Amino acid sequence: MMLDVACAYRPSRLEFHDFGPDLGDFRQALIDGLSGPDKAIPCRFLYDARGSALFEKICKLPEYYPTRTELGILRAIAPHIAERLGQGVQMIELGGVSSLKARILLDALDEPNAYIPVDISRDHLRASAEALYAEKSGLSVLAVCADYTQPFELPTAPGSGPRMGFFPGSTIGNLRPDEAIAFLASWADRLGPGSVMVVGVDLRKDSAILEPAYDDAQGVTAAFSKNLLVRANRELGADFDPDAFSHRARYDAASGRIEIHLESLADQTAHIPGKDGGDVAIPLAQGERIHVEDSYKYSLEGFKTLARAAGFRPTAHWTDDNQLFSVHYLETASA
Ligand code: AVI
Repeated sequence: MMLDVACAYRPSRLEFHDFGPDLGDFRQALIDGLSGPDKAIPCRFLYDARGSALFEKICKLPEYYPTRTELGILRAIAPHIAERLGQGVQMIELGGVSSLKARILLDALDEPNAYIPVDISRDHLRASAEALYAEKSGLSVLAVCADYTQPFELPTAPGSGPRMGFFPGSTIGNLRPDEAIAFLASWADRLGPGSVMVVGVDLRKDSAILEPAYDDAQGVTAAFSKNLLVRANRELGADFDPDAFSHRARYDAASGRIEIHLESLADQTAHIPGKDGGDVAIPLAQGERIHVEDSYKYSLEGFKTLARAAGFRPTAHWTDDNQLFSVHYLETASA
């Protein structure tokens, strides 16, 4: 009896590795992005606390099908993924703070060794890592506060089980295809031979479904985009009038991307206080647009081609019955 208890017990640990990620200077990015004729604000600045809360609301909107569709696919395929990977998996989740999707896989996996969530949002990451560690006995939780698009050293997990990268949510779609290839290639390299990457990818479809998903009736997505201006006013003392802009989401079928802009509703001039005292004036003509985000959609074959270009072997994919969303299983070269 004593022996049984000893065998069932797997030592685990909770760690927090902080690489002090830095998104760069918001003021400078804003001034650089708004000073020329082609105006843009980098989408990485969308996710302050208010932006993250608005994004959580977006995920529950009736028009925004990706979250609930991906959850349904993951619930259905988790046992297949578990069977393919076997015992003692180390799961590395890129952007892992809400962890609901990761939990579906962790619950199905055979005695996973470690969960390594990588995220830039320090407080949220710490809280969710602690909660998961308390909940799952035997699972080491090695949280990494870092920008997962940049190089950093992955912590060494206990055991020698296979490594599985997990990148859900179609966040890959917020990168340009060339950036997505470079990003996946860097993770193929970091995960190493004999590893797997599971990626959630939104599929190409009719604009009648796509455009409302990015321009919902309640205006939550509009508030999410305009939060860039709200954030600039609050953090930098700028004087943007968010009501003087309209959120526009348009699907460009040729490139397969949703393009999101804020369009100026009037001739206006906003001001951003510069670092050295003086204001930087940002004149905007009526109808002029500020680009805030792209969200690329892929065909099944299109994404597989991209994954191959990054050095992965796409060996399985799953979709929902309506072919709205896909989950791809990519393998690195054998060990
Ligand atoms: C985070 N990312 C995958 C979302 C998307 O669908 O591209 C961001 C988003 N922007 C507006 N709605 C959702």
